[in-house]
Formats: sequence, structure tokens, C-alpha cells
Amino acid sequence: MNSFVTLVSEILKKSGIKEGDKILILSCPGFEDKRPGKVRVPPPGYVTSLRLAAEFLGAKCTVIEVPDAVFFGTGVSLEEYSPSISEMMKKSDLLVNFPLFSKELMEALKSGARAITIHQDEEVHRRLFPIDERKKLSWAGAELLESAETIRVTTEHGTDLICEKKGRKAHCEYGMADEPGRWDNAAAGQVSCAPIEDSLNGKLVIGPGDGICHLCLVTEPIECTIKDGRIVKIEGGASAKLLSEWFAKWNDDRSYMISHIGWGTDPRANWTRGHVIDSAMDWEDYYGNLMLGFGRNTFNGAAKHCGFGDAKNDAPSHIDICIKTANFYLDGELVVSNNRMVHEKLKELEYT
Ligand SMILES: [Fe+2]
Repeated sequence: MNSFVTLVSEILKKSGIKEGDKILILSCPGFEDKRPGKVRVPPPGYVTSLRLAAEFLGAKCTVIEVPDAVFFGTGVSLEEYSPSISEMMKKSDLLVNFPLFSKELMEALKSGARAITIHQDEEVHRRLFPIDERKKLSWAGAELLESAETIRVTTEHGTDLICEKKGRKAHCEYGMADEPGRWDNAAAGQVSCAPIEDSLNGKLVIGPGDGICHLCLVTEPIECTIKDGRIVKIEGGASAKLLSEWFAKWNDDRSYMISHIGWGTDPRANWTRGHVIDSAMDWEDYYGNLMLGFGRNTFNGAAKHCGFGDAKNDAPSHIDICIKTANFYLDGELVVSNNRMVHEKLKELEYT
């Protein structure tokens, strides 16, 4: 896997891409500058490398470029901007880098298309390459989570949260869009679900060294009081002020409401790297972490363990908070603790 093109072709192979498949890539003029990563890939650049990788495998590849605001979901919808794009999406085998919460993507997944996000730095995709071990562990975690009715999480810093999830789908990401109707993120290793939104109650303490994706590495405890699914009070020092200001800017009560809760499944994720290069995947995937999202969760794929089912929060915002070490209980049984899988069905699938 010497070049970025070769690396991407190996990633696409993990999503089952083969000769003759139809791949549709979405891009925008600001893709290189505004994607999560900071390091540009060598010429011919990111999007052309994606196309060359697909063509290397014999796929028929089309690249569509829309304005930044459409691509990043802050302008008009895809279909409004580009009528009939939904039909193209539905007739594609694999969609690359389409906005996750867009209704066009969910409709295409329902039609059997698959979708994958590939937009991290090359080094992150290389280190967090989708491997079968990650899939097995993430899938087994989702199976456990799907059948559970209650979740409790605790940490040494004082987090103690409970919520209900009966009837809610469990979601996992392992980096392969390998089933019809499945979206995934090539660098992801995670298990999560959207709890019954108003059932979450307790205290969330984001401790020193924990991370808030694309906002900060926390330097002193942030104490969040959560009542009936919403953060109702944020207390602490400078980090708490940053977080409070981030929430306030949306001026929307739904931004404070829980989105998802789960844990990371990739021992190759590197917490320090996550901070140094602002790599959210290194925090989100971090082995046995506690990851909570607040804000929008209305995403559902047609495939099993893809999406949040009938989740209800349609906030305009989304933020991920990663607690490095926690205890995760399902129906009172300890499943993840001290950054290790402790449930017997997960323990046997641990990998390095
Ligand atoms: Fe999230």
C-alpha cells in the first residue's frame, strides 16, 4: 500500500468493489481545505486519487462537484441544487462522501446502494485501515447493545448516567460498506445507539484529558447536568466556557439533547495523535472509550446495525464528546471497563 491511490483501492476492496461497479463520488471546490484532515495528499490530490483508485479496480466512476454549502449541508439540499441526483445515487453501487444526514442518502440506501466516507488524512486511513477483526468486534458489540434495554455509564471523574434504549436499533461502524443499504466511515471502529432521547439522566463529567471533537482537549473538569435527555447546566472553567459557547451559538434547544452513546473498538486509535492532528477518528475509535454525541441523530440506513432507527432529534448541530476511560453497563452487566472489553462475547474478539 505505497501510494494513497493504492491505499484507497484496498479500502474500496473491503467494501466489495469490483470490476464494472458504478461509483459516484461527491466533491466540492473546498474539499481539500475543509475536510477533517489537515495534510494534503500528493498530486493528483484527494478526489482524483479516489477516482483513480476506483478505476484501478475496474469500476465505472463519476465525480460530481457541487458548491461547498451544498456539500457540507449548510445550503440547499442536493436534490434542490441538482435535480435528478437522487436517481443517480439510487442507481449507484457505492456512494462516496455524501452528506450523512441528507434525505437523498437515506433514500439511496433504502434502494440498496452502499455508501462510504473517505476524507481523513492519509496517515489516519493507513493506521485505521478496515480489518476483519474490527468488524467482528464492532458487530458483536452492536448485537449486545441491540438486545439491551438500559444503559449505565460511570467514570472515575464522577460521570454517572442512565438511559433507556428498548426498541432502538444498535449501530456500528467498522469501515466497510459491505452490505446493500449500508453506510460506513472507512476509518471508523465504533458501537453506538440513540437512546430514548428523554430517558437520559445524571451527571456527565468530561475530565482533564478527555476530548471534544474539533473543539478542544479538556484541561479541567466540565460538569454537565443532564435531565430528561438534555444538558441543562454546564459548570467548570475555561473548557466548560468553550463548550457552553459552542452550544449557545446554535440557539436551539435540540442541540443540547442526546444523539448517541457508545464505545470505540479500535486499539490502533491513538489518543495523542487525535489531539495533535485534530483527528476525531482517533478519539471516537479509541479502544473502550465512552463516546456521546449531542444533537442530530436522524440517520438510518437500510442495513442491519447501520443508523439509529426511529431516533427523533433533528437538531441543526452535532457534537461528539469522547471520554477516554469509562465503565459501560448494559442491563446492569459490565461490558466495557478500563479500556478493555470485559463481556465474554467481546473479550474473545479483542485484537491488537
Ligand atoms: Fe456523532
